[in-house]
Amino acid sequence: MTNVILTGDRPTGKLHLGHFVGSLRNRVRMQADPDNDLYIMVADQQALTDNARNPKKVQDSILQVALDYLAVGIDPAKTTLFIQSQIPQLPELTLYFLNLVTTSRLKRNPTVKSEIQQKDFKSSIPAGFFIYPVSQAADIAAFKASHVPVGDDQKPMIEQTREIVRDFNSTYQTDVLVEPDIVLPPKGQGRLVGIDGSGKMSKSLGNGIYLSDSEDEIQKKVMSMYTDPDHIHVEDPGKVEGNVVFTYLDVFAQDKDKVQDLKDHYRAGGLGDVKLKRYLNEVLQAQLKPIRDRRQELEANLDYVYSILKDGSQAAEKIASQTLDQVKEAMGINYF
Ligand code: TRP
Repeated sequence: MTNVILTGDRPTGKLHLGHFVGSLRNRVRMQADPDNDLYIMVADQQALTDNARNPKKVQDSILQVALDYLAVGIDPAKTTLFIQSQIPQLPELTLYFLNLVTTSRLKRNPTVKSEIQQKDFKSSIPAGFFIYPVSQAADIAAFKASHVPVGDDQKPMIEQTREIVRDFNSTYQTDVLVEPDIVLPPKGQGRLVGIDGSGKMSKSLGNGIYLSDSEDEIQKKVMSMYTDPDHIHVEDPGKVEGNVVFTYLDVFAQDKDKVQDLKDHYRAGGLGDVKLKRYLNEVLQAQLKPIRDRRQELEANLDYVYSILKDGSQAAEKIASQTLDQVKEAMGINYF
């Protein structure tokens, strides 16, 4: 049986190594399986729910995110890449779903709650932002996705989607909509820590290495990475746990034996941070160069990139429109 897999990102900036480890490389793996029908959505409408007065940021980021997708190997021959705002059936389905959701249920969504605090909306919460989990449920349901690969923070969204789908099917005595399963990243492959070790890699914390970073930028960032603050002299024994350089080596280095030797040496003392960082720099440069080169080729060929987004959006609209026909029929609002 075919798995319909749908996932996406809000376009609010370029993608970084955290995205690569937590989601992008899994998507590249998933698209290779012929049993998977993969949709990747650039969620510009969702990004606008808290950037309505700064649409330029969202518009510019759509292209950046698309370049990052294609550069890491998302293949438009295997995956449907599309832009949320180009599918009018999504807000249409959102509107029908909203009637099935109470405002008190919306207030209970833990991810929305913490975002409201982070973004410091206080009492001026945009209504569109408040209801975005319902719009996300429509994104998923319109494609009858069976699987939604996302990070931990998206659990409440998928849970709410399942509730809405169940409610819709039972209220209208139908089985048109599909209850999706969440697909969490494999253990230990969640969001990568940032280069400062202060938390997950994120644009707002300024602790990221971007897929588009130049060789120099990558090197500078590696050299500034958080290690063990008590490892002052080369001879001192150093700590491996919580040391960002080792976290990255565990994730990116192919030669696991070499990493183990480096850990032993570091713990015993006698291995300097600079030497260690030089090795990580080599490892990262080797992995990021082909991505950056491909990205630059694509940047020189933006017509091609836009044509992929356009074709993908047209294909996606066809699917969403079939679902909406069935939805309206189930609701009895297919009058003509
Ligand atoms: N909420 C997701 C994020 O912040 C983006 C998103 C929007 C999404 N609609 C989706 C993800 C549907 C999976 C399925 O990254």
